[in-house]
Parts: sequence; C-alpha cells; structure tokens
Amino acid sequence: MKFYIATDHAGYALKEFTKEYVISKGHEIIDLGPDSADRVDYPDFAKKCANAVISDKGSFGILICGTGIGISISANKVAGIRAGLCHDAYTAMATRAHNDANILCFGERVVGRGVVESMIDAFCDTEFEGGRHAGRVDKIEGCSLGADLG
Ligand code: RB5
Repeated sequence: MKFYIATDHAGYALKEFTKEYVISKGHEIIDLGPDSADRVDYPDFAKKCANAVISDKGSFGILICGTGIGISISANKVAGIRAGLCHDAYTAMATRAHNDANILCFGERVVGRGVVESMIDAFCDTEFEGGRHAGRVDKIEGCSLGADLG
C-alpha cells in the first residue's frame, strides 16, 4: 500500500515511529511534513495529505495531531476523503471495513506505540466490505448531509 503522512506539532514525535513501522511492513510512505516540532496549524497539514490522497488514486493517508480530532475533522472537509479517527485495532479495522476510510487518524496524546502498530496492521489487513455499507458510503459522498435532515 502507498501512504502519505502528515501531522501537526502535537503529532510530530510519533511521525518517525509510524513511518518506520509502515515501511517495516513493506508499504511505501511519503512524508508531507512538518519537518520540525515547531507549532503549526493542523488544517494545513490535513489538507496537504487529503489532497495527495485524492490526487493519487488508490493511495491512503495517515494523519496525527494531539487528539486526532482536529486533523480528522479537517481532512473530512475534502471531497472524497473518509478520514477515520481511531483509537485501537477494532476501530482501525472497522473504519476500513464499514466506512472505506482512505485516511487513518489518531492522537499522539491518546495512543501509545503498541496501539499504533496494531492500528496500522488492522487498517492494512482489512478490505472494505461493500454490501450494505456501500450505500451508506455513497450517501456520504453524494449529498450535503445537513440538507435533507428533515
Ligand atoms: C494542539 O495543541 C492540539 O489542539 C491539536 O493537536 C489537536 O489535538 C486538535 O484537535
């Protein structure tokens, strides 16, 4: 699998570890920054990664901030991105199987290195199940969710 990775300053320390683990599993990973732990704004790096994933069909992303929340909210603003905020192997498996997630998000202040490894394994080993989930993903992609919430 091919991954793009980006973080903010609060996810920066976990970036090298995550990259090394992804590479050790035989995948490719491209680092979109930042290049230091200096303070940055997570929407800027979410956007870089989301745009790279959309431009490179079949690729995936990894986004890390302090909680994983801000960077996942930001990435999900990009059409075609399904960024799943995960906390463990179960959520990483389910976001691929049910949501067809193309970006794995997590929080450096939330998960440890062992959990990161288990999430990457689960994310990479799981295919989208399709079936009843496909229609739901189509609804995410096809409409403004607020518009028809009567
Ligand atoms: C940065 O302090 C922190 O707010 C950010 O990394 C993230 O957790 C936001 O959701």
